[in-house]
Amino acid sequence: MRALLAHTRPQATALAVACVLSAAAALMTLAQPLAVKRVFHDLSASRPVAGPLALIVGLFLAEALTEAVRNCLLGRIGEGVVLRLRTLLVARLLRWPTAAHERHRSGDLISRLSGDTTAVRWALTGGTTDAVAGVLTFVGALVLMAALDPLMLAVTLCCLAVAAAAVAAVPVRLAGAAAEARRSLGRLSAGLERVLRAVRTVKLSGAEEREEARLVAEARAAYRAELRQVHLRAVVRPVVTLAVQGSLVVVLCVGGVRVAEGTMGIGDLIAFLMYLMCLAVPVGTVSGAVAEVQAGRAALARVEELLREPLEAEPPAHDRDVPGRIPEPRGPVGTARGTAPAVELREVDFAYPGRDGSPALRRVSLEVPEGGRVALVGPSGAGKSTVLALIGRIYRPESGTLRLFGRDAADLSLEALRALIGHVEQEAPVMAGTLRSNLVYARPDVSERRIKEVLDRTNLAGFVDSLPEGLDTQVGDGGVLLSGGQRQRVAIARMLLKEPRLLLLDEVTSQMDGENERLLNATLREAADTCTVLVVAHRLSTVQDADRILVMDAGRIRARGTHHSLLREDELYAHLARTQLLPTSTG
Ligand SMILES: Nc1ncnc2c1ncn2[C@@H]1O[C@H](COP(=O)(O)OP(=O)(O)OP(=O)(O)O)[C@@H](O)[C@H]1O
Ligand SMILES: [Mg+2]
Repeated sequence: MRALLAHTRPQATALAVACVLSAAAALMTLAQPLAVKRVFHDLSASRPVAGPLALIVGLFLAEALTEAVRNCLLGRIGEGVVLRLRTLLVARLLRWPTAAHERHRSGDLISRLSGDTTAVRWALTGGTTDAVAGVLTFVGALVLMAALDPLMLAVTLCCLAVAAAAVAAVPVRLAGAAAEARRSLGRLSAGLERVLRAVRTVKLSGAEEREEARLVAEARAAYRAELRQVHLRAVVRPVVTLAVQGSLVVVLCVGGVRVAEGTMGIGDLIAFLMYLMCLAVPVGTVSGAVAEVQAGRAALARVEELLREPLEAEPPAHDRDVPGRIPEPRGPVGTARGTAPAVELREVDFAYPGRDGSPALRRVSLEVPEGGRVALVGPSGAGKSTVLALIGRIYRPESGTLRLFGRDAADLSLEALRALIGHVEQEAPVMAGTLRSNLVYARPDVSERRIKEVLDRTNLAGFVDSLPEGLDTQVGDGGVLLSGGQRQRVAIARMLLKEPRLLLLDEVTSQMDGENERLLNATLREAADTCTVLVVAHRLSTVQDADRILVMDAGRIRARGTHHSLLREDELYAHLARTQLLPTSTG
């Protein structure tokens, strides 16, 4: 409950008002039987009853109005909490280090952002004030019943104790069922996201039935966990009602006898019975509230688990008080051009999180002079993409130093560092949206003229012209509406438009035909006039163009030199050149 309330701090006043309104409504409920008793009292004394009757009607109306205002206020508070949680989640998810993203499944994250935040809202709005109103009405009714007739209260409490004992075990079991329900929903979303992301592979592998069975199994697990909650909740109210009805019968018998004997007024008996009905409502709502709060707690725990992940960068301004972030150094990049190497790795060691036993890089040292063109070659799994990922601080080296343009990369803010670098990744990712939004993604302010120029240089101009909607054509999820080679060229064009000081290219010609590749090599030669290029290459033409070639194997740099010197001196390079470094049509 305290964890839930922590998230309502910005709306503390509104929540306090809602609680006061709930309390007021409860007091009005409690006042009604007293007014009824008054009516009977006046009737038997042959006094006019218009006044007490008007009071009853007034109390009914005032209670309805109070509850309407309270519900409205609560709804707003609840939605405010959902918005706050979603804002925090979005801001923080985007600033997680890569390793945290690798630990979580995207579908599960989406389910927490949409489903769990909503569950928190119900716990808060249903839970808190129902509990306040319920407890107040319950205690108030007990006190007033004690004042009316202590003996009959004792009879009532005996009946209610039986119900309380039966219901007491429910909250604990509900908590477990609620948590399991949230988890299985998360797994269902993650499973769905997994197949949707590779829907063509699923079709081509004929795996529809297997995947269906797997997803339906998750849906069934969620169903079972929800059913357990349904069953637990289902028994609570009838048990309570039964206990109240039991006590009603007993009170009627005992009270009837006493009224007949003349030891109790009829007004007192009716007021007592009304309080008895008052008891039933809060016992029902409190047990309902407990169920909501248990479900909300399970959901909130899942949301807070995400909020506790440390960030890789400075959090956004509205989130500065969140603990656990990695402190971020700040500083300008300020080095004069050409005075230091663009990239310098010294004795860098790195193992992927969770693979401590087998480091991906061991004692890697390399240097890329500013304005130079360096190629990285090596067999698959050698660690080439890992080197590029460390330079762009997708991961941080475990030991050794990484310097960029003469500055220790650890002293650069993430923002400053990423502004220097244009990284075209191996998978050439393209995002859902228009072609234009993809092209200008790293530099939204780039001019139309510049876009045109880069389209020409990446041989996309003709393709764009052939599209009825040109640059405003949608590319689909992950760019599925483009060909493999087009995707690669869009990814390259995006980074050329960014005009970085350091261009990192990871096998960007793997899906290109000879002509596109020739054009791209020319473009890279041009780019090298204004920026430094580090390229991972499987093509002989790209490698031959480089000033210097580094040969990687099993996480180490094993040789460096030019194409001709390496052909003579390095066995692996000679082998790669013969088998893997594919010659182009002109090569
Ligand atoms: N995110 C990751 N988590 C764990 N291990 C990884 C991850 N990415 C790569 N690896 C492992 O690190 C090693 C180096 O991978 P890397 O991607 O750097 O190879 P590469 O030289 O780029 O290969 P390729 O030519 O096939 O692209 C491989 O053994 C790979 O399995
Ligand atoms: Mg790679």
